[in-house]
Amino acid sequence: MTKPLSLSQRGQIASRSAMRVDLEVYAEAIENLYHPTKNPEGALILNMAENNLSWPLLREKIETVALENGIPNWVSNYTSALGAASFREALAGFLSKFLCHCPISPDHLACSAGATPVIELTSWILADAGDVAVFPAPSYPVYTQDIGNKAAVERFDLVIQNTTNDRPTLNSKHLDETLTNIESQGKKFRMLILTSPDNPTGYIYSFEQLIEISDWCIEQEVHLIVNEIYGLSLIDTNHPELRADYQTEVDFVSFAQIMQDRQSDYLHLWYSLSKDLGSSGFRLGLVHSLNESFIKAYNNLNAPHMVSNYTQWTFQEVLSDHDFMADYIRKNQAALTESYVLVVKYLRAANVPYVPSRGSLFVWIDLSAFLKDDSVQAETDLWLEIYQKAKLLITPANGFGHQNRGHYRLVYTAISKTGLEEAMSRLSDFIKNKR
Ligand SMILES: Cc1ncc(COP(=O)(O)O)c(C=O)c1O
Repeated sequence: MTKPLSLSQRGQIASRSAMRVDLEVYAEAIENLYHPTKNPEGALILNMAENNLSWPLLREKIETVALENGIPNWVSNYTSALGAASFREALAGFLSKFLCHCPISPDHLACSAGATPVIELTSWILADAGDVAVFPAPSYPVYTQDIGNKAAVERFDLVIQNTTNDRPTLNSKHLDETLTNIESQGKKFRMLILTSPDNPTGYIYSFEQLIEISDWCIEQEVHLIVNEIYGLSLIDTNHPELRADYQTEVDFVSFAQIMQDRQSDYLHLWYSLSKDLGSSGFRLGLVHSLNESFIKAYNNLNAPHMVSNYTQWTFQEVLSDHDFMADYIRKNQAALTESYVLVVKYLRAANVPYVPSRGSLFVWIDLSAFLKDDSVQAETDLWLEIYQKAKLLITPANGFGHQNRGHYRLVYTAISKTGLEEAMSRLSDFIKNKR
């Protein structure tokens, strides 16, 4: 074992800071995976935000691309650090047609190996060390590392008291209060980051809400970034089994439409193919911005984060087949809704409260009734107990930045349909025993 003191000070800190708290348990669980006949008592993984529901469709398409096309010469050379021109062209066409429903210029796109480096580099370019990025809570825990590890930007979790089972409505009054709070600490409110559909709640920000928030940010010179990484992973809220869960109808409308209208240097959008296309292993993410200096800075810094040209070329072919993409998105959303319905039926039967999701790969469930007390330790203990007794690995509660103890994220898209039935049946039994 090497001595940590051989590292720089920041290297020493990194050697002690795991990216996620559940990685050790995850490593154990994957050594003992559930199989209906070979390992029926095995572990079921519901903590990683992966979508495997439609991989067979994408795999077939990728295999066809590889079989039917010669690899172009540019693939073996260096390309633009923003992404090859032909790839960005295909991306822009895909985004315009399927996600954004407005024209997107390839000149306003910059690509890196997944959303993770996109978030890291965006933070580095837009904020200085010690500046603050605000996230309405609860929010994706790993944002903390993405904005903090290199850019040294601080995370501020904006907790709004919740009155409904939906997520509270963020408005400019909350932002005014947050600005005063951050400035009173002598710090700068630099970025506001929204995820829509949201991780973990599946909440979607309405168009009107996004306009109000955008105008506040433009006026205050705060960068607003909307992460639409789950933008095509939409649940059919009109499904007969689900309709009664939603008090209002909210259509997903891409933030790109507001960006196009406002033409501001303060509005940006993140996207990645990791979730909607279930292709997290290919590592393809992007930022869309009309801020020319931002794109120039990105170009100058992105070399370490570039996507391999072979991946760019493959996805250029996949994304520009719009008939395939339309079919894929439709089938993927149907599969997503089907799995979601299965999960909520079990939750309702077991009397477990949940936030009705409108999109994403998650259900945000409330197991607070089973906590020993209202502490973080009790949350961790319950999470581990669920793993040890039911062999179900859900996402631990740590790091989401909210204050209601006992809420957990359950990913329902990473395992097979049989696995999901088994998982929900085990969770129901666990709860029955607890009551
Ligand atoms: C909101 C959000 N942003 C970013 C990421 C990371 O995505 P990628 O695999 O493209 O780096 C995730 C993954 O879970 C996510 O949920």
